[in-house]
Amino acid sequence: MPDPLPLFLVAPPGLEPVLAAEACEKGFADPQPVPGGVETSGDWPEIWRANLALRGAARVLVRFAEFRAMHLAQLDKRARKLDWGAVLRPDRPVRVEATCRKSRIYHAGAAAQRVSRAITETLGCPVSDTAEIVVKLRIDDDLCTISLDSTGEALHKRGHKPAVGKAPMRENLAALFLRQCGFTGSETVVDPMCGSGTFVIEAAEVASGLFPGRSRRFAFEQLAGFQPEEWEAMKAGARQRVPQARFFGHDRDAGAIRSSTQNAARAGVGAHCAFACQPISALEPPPGASGLVIVNPPYGARIGNRKALFSVYGALGQVLRERFAGWRVGLVTSDGGLAKATGLPWQAPGPTVAHGGLKVTLWQARLGG
Ligand SMILES: C[S@@+](CC[C@H](N)C(=O)[O-])C[C@H]1O[C@@H](n2cnc3c(N)ncnc32)[C@H](O)[C@@H]1O
Repeated sequence: MPDPLPLFLVAPPGLEPVLAAEACEKGFADPQPVPGGVETSGDWPEIWRANLALRGAARVLVRFAEFRAMHLAQLDKRARKLDWGAVLRPDRPVRVEATCRKSRIYHAGAAAQRVSRAITETLGCPVSDTAEIVVKLRIDDDLCTISLDSTGEALHKRGHKPAVGKAPMRENLAALFLRQCGFTGSETVVDPMCGSGTFVIEAAEVASGLFPGRSRRFAFEQLAGFQPEEWEAMKAGARQRVPQARFFGHDRDAGAIRSSTQNAARAGVGAHCAFACQPISALEPPPGASGLVIVNPPYGARIGNRKALFSVYGALGQVLRERFAGWRVGLVTSDGGLAKATGLPWQAPGPTVAHGGLKVTLWQARLGG
């Protein structure tokens, strides 16, 4: 196996450079944005750390082997030569997922079956469709890349959010949008339509110096060479601090506010957050220095209808323009027409980002005053 191992941090398409910047700031080796993610490298403790510490990544893949195969028998032979015992444990079930593109091997199911068989027959681990450990085989132009998913359940599942609202933002996406807005943890954040509280809780966690993966399990805990004591020591090494700023979430829906409050408490940041049930019309800036308003209002295709939404966006824009002089605004929506209906002085919009079957964009403004 190569040392250090090549790693691929899966990113929401469109936000690869933002994740690369986070990985660079957190000390990962030479992170390079490429379509769909960020390439870096590291040993196993770096793989654990990537899962534990990166807020923007969706998962962390370990590139395990790369070879050419023109037909299934060749794939079978080469897969049997790999040192599976260096990464997998004979007592833990695995599952192989395959994709084929522009290759002589075109049947992904047959390719996955060859690799599954190579693993069971050389190492003895059982193959199961429900296995937590996933080996990914990608065949592209006859080049086979075998990766191991070190993450398991996607990283946006931080492990302390049972209560979600109607259209929650994924935590890793929320973290990348906060970063794009220049948030570093030191300023007040207000989300006037906070739903389940994702932006507010992510912001409070950043400000508190908490690791996003502190409460959950990962697939790498089931792999060969995992060292539980070293892992526990890594988790205990968070540089926690008491935030200097506070984090505010509002929503007109009482259920959303109950969920946000519970979610923040479970995440351990309840003391730094304040949630209140109120409509946009009642929004006032909290006392103290100006900061960041970040909001993901409803957009037509998901909830509500577009005509009614024009007045919601219009009201939001008016309140922000009249009461939030000196603040920055980040607004995430799938509908540029609605963003413009706020009348806010938008900069050029960011890239479109796939989210829940829609393409959303971050719009940013700085309010004069
Ligand atoms: C797309 S959801 C926000 C999801 C949130 N970012 C999350 O991660 O859960 C939009 C939210 O706006 C709230 N909302 C809609 N109109 C509102 C208004 N006029 N005042 C306050 N909240 C409103 C809805 O109740 C809903 O929770």
